[in-house]
Amino acid sequence: MQVTITVNGEERRHDVEPRLLLVQYLREVLGLTGTNIGCDTSSCGACTVLLDGESVKSCTVLAVQAEGSRITTIEGLAEGDEWHPVQVAFREQHGLQCGYCTPGMVLAAVSLLEECPRPTERQVREGLEGNLCRCTGYHNIVKAVLAASGQSVAVLDTVRPGAVHAPTIGEGPAS
Ligand code: FES
Ligand code: FES
Repeated sequence: MQVTITVNGEERRHDVEPRLLLVQYLREVLGLTGTNIGCDTSSCGACTVLLDGESVKSCTVLAVQAEGSRITTIEGLAEGDEWHPVQVAFREQHGLQCGYCTPGMVLAAVSLLEECPRPTERQVREGLEGNLCRCTGYHNIVKAVLAASGQSVAVLDTVRPGAVHAPTIGEGPAS
């Protein structure tokens, strides 16, 4: 089947198998390997991209279902040499370690901030609960998203992760 999808601002047209997943299309057909595969079962969020501005797990969408849509992957988030503010915040707040979850986490955060420009800590944790990270304990990811929204993160440096609100995504040990 032929699909036409605008990926990172560029219209792409290919013949694909009807069963091809969007994540496979992005990685294997377009070579956009910034979109990772963690579980293939819609659990981890490593494959998150923006579809018409909303975050989706691209292992849960067939390429043919994305016909006519706009997809943004991590490769398309920066404006030229200018990183997206969420990318900058992840770097400044040390919101990553191995980086495997990071493309999906950043795109999920971009979508979250579109819907909720000044989220609370709880809203960030709830908004990102579909994205798993094995490394960071989530604390610095939450800080990065709050920082990207223009809010102070100083208070999060003075409390144990999860001490203010009940945890909604995995949290690291007390420091
Ligand atoms: S690879 Fe898609 S959710 Fe894990
Ligand atoms: S930084 Fe390693 S999985 Fe999140």
